[in-house]
Amino acid sequence: MAAKSLDGKACAENVEANLKERISSLKSKGVNPHLVVIIVGEDPASKIYVGAKERACERLGIVSTRHSLSANASEIELRDLLSKLNADDAVHGILVQSPLPDDLDELSLTDMIDPNKDVDGFHPVNLGRLVQGRMDGHLPCTPAGVMRMLEWANVDLTGKRAVVIGRSRIVGMPLSLMLAAKGSNATVSIVHSRTENIESHCQQADVLIAAVGVAGLVKNNWVKNGAVVIDVGVNRVEDTSRERGWSLAGDVDPDVSEVASILSPVPGGVGPMTIAMLMSNTVNAAEKLSR
Ligand code: GUN
Repeated sequence: MAAKSLDGKACAENVEANLKERISSLKSKGVNPHLVVIIVGEDPASKIYVGAKERACERLGIVSTRHSLSANASEIELRDLLSKLNADDAVHGILVQSPLPDDLDELSLTDMIDPNKDVDGFHPVNLGRLVQGRMDGHLPCTPAGVMRMLEWANVDLTGKRAVVIGRSRIVGMPLSLMLAAKGSNATVSIVHSRTENIESHCQQADVLIAAVGVAGLVKNNWVKNGAVVIDVGVNRVEDTSRERGWSLAGDVDPDVSEVASILSPVPGGVGPMTIAMLMSNTVNAAEKLSR
């Protein structure tokens, strides 16, 4: 039987619906939640992502401002802009769209963002809180979105074996911490490009999460019967049947649907949840900063 598709769009709509009331309450107190997005250069995929974030703000009545800087913007220019935004009481969330051009140091720029305004959840203070098991900082949006989707699908993680493929700062590492945290209680393995015999680890997983950026990497013989599989991959693959010449593919081969009990689709799975959690972090920031 084909796996149940875990509809990230519907889950995201549910998250957004719950934010609307909190946004109205903020506005009634004269607080207009405001997200600022900084984009450097002309990366087409980044422009698409930023556009989707702005549309979500518009849907919810969150103010959004885009600062588009040229690809040869200097680090000093970015630092000046971040200092101004940190000091601006009308700004609640600041996000620097990744990737940045190679000559800019993404990590040191992230360090500069006020942790209370770091709605990406990438600042060391926010990641440090997560390591401490505290959930009072901003959580990175994609991992938080995956956790919310699992909860929404009533997947009980306690005592389950979770395998995360990928150890990135943005997804794999923080997601592994969230899965293992008290309250979630999964037993977590992280596998990566240097892991020997990745398949054998994946075959043990009750919950398998692929966040590695390789189209179709996870095959159906890597997956235990009845496992829950979450596909975080967003890969552009050549597709001559499309006028634009490409389509989106996840890290999970669609045939995995034959063995998994639940599978998140690409597109329409984790993607909309990342944006919903960004909106949620922005509302949390506006509430916290206006207290
Ligand atoms: N680029 C791809 N995903 C993300 C994200 O979640 N946040 C930022 N800032 N950049 C990204």
